[in-house]
Amino acid sequence: MAGRTVERVIESVATSDGAGVKLRRSVGSSQFLRHDPFLMLDEFYSDNPDDYIAGFPSHPHRGFETVTYMLDGHMRHEDSVGNRGDLGPGDVQWMSAARGIIHSEMPQQTEGRMRGFQLWINLPATEKMKDPGYRDIPSEQIPGISLDDGGEVRVIAGTLSQRSGDVKGAVTSLTTDPLYLDVRLPPNTSVELPIKPGYNAFVYLYDGDAVVGEDRQPLKRRTAGLLCDGSELRVETENSEARFLLLAGKPLSEPVAQYGPFVMNTREEIEQAVQDYQNGSLTLTAEQAQRLKVFPPS
Ligand code: FE2
Repeated sequence: MAGRTVERVIESVATSDGAGVKLRRSVGSSQFLRHDPFLMLDEFYSDNPDDYIAGFPSHPHRGFETVTYMLDGHMRHEDSVGNRGDLGPGDVQWMSAARGIIHSEMPQQTEGRMRGFQLWINLPATEKMKDPGYRDIPSEQIPGISLDDGGEVRVIAGTLSQRSGDVKGAVTSLTTDPLYLDVRLPPNTSVELPIKPGYNAFVYLYDGDAVVGEDRQPLKRRTAGLLCDGSELRVETENSEARFLLLAGKPLSEPVAQYGPFVMNTREEIEQAVQDYQNGSLTLTAEQAQRLKVFPPS
């Protein structure tokens, strides 16, 4: 199968979330700009503490997974399940909100650079109400590959097939089978990265310039390029280094109903999520909720 090309460019837009953290949103900046199973990609990047210091105080999620990848800075996570974790440069936090989690993500610095990404990956209908899961992945547990001409690839999730063998990422075996790579390419070099045919994929260029795909589409910094189908992706650099994320995943092809931090399949399920959050049962199992008689008798 042929190499992939860019079929749609999504420029990131400035927005804010949490208690006013400034960020750039590309995929998911509108409901028409999701890329199944990817619901959203945010980049936060600032040297100004006013842009991030308020953080993301306690807030709920249901129905999907959040993946936070830090490049610079330090954040602390605490949640309703009792997890607590520190995220530093190069670390990843993979949280499956599933049935429900209430968490906070707060900066642990009052100055300096804060930089990283948050990705939302959808869960299939059959897994939206499973128990929540949480994993902190320290930087040193993320496999890195050195490219022949000086670049490197970090394999956060999925498996990267290389001539020298397969490199398994830190996270594998999810239903959507996500591939999550962070790639650095020196000037005047290129790389070919295999992507499973049939998977939805996109590139997010976060530093420098790059020429992406078989038709050599130039991509600007802080821009996502959604890719058409194919078995691999070629990325080239010219005069500057490029740093980009490559994401690919198995599409779920299910209806998406979203209300802020709740992503379900139907409007009724969203109404249930809001009601559960309001009456304090969002994070309880059905059995716990019954025992506490939180649900009205049906
Ligand atoms: Fe969150």
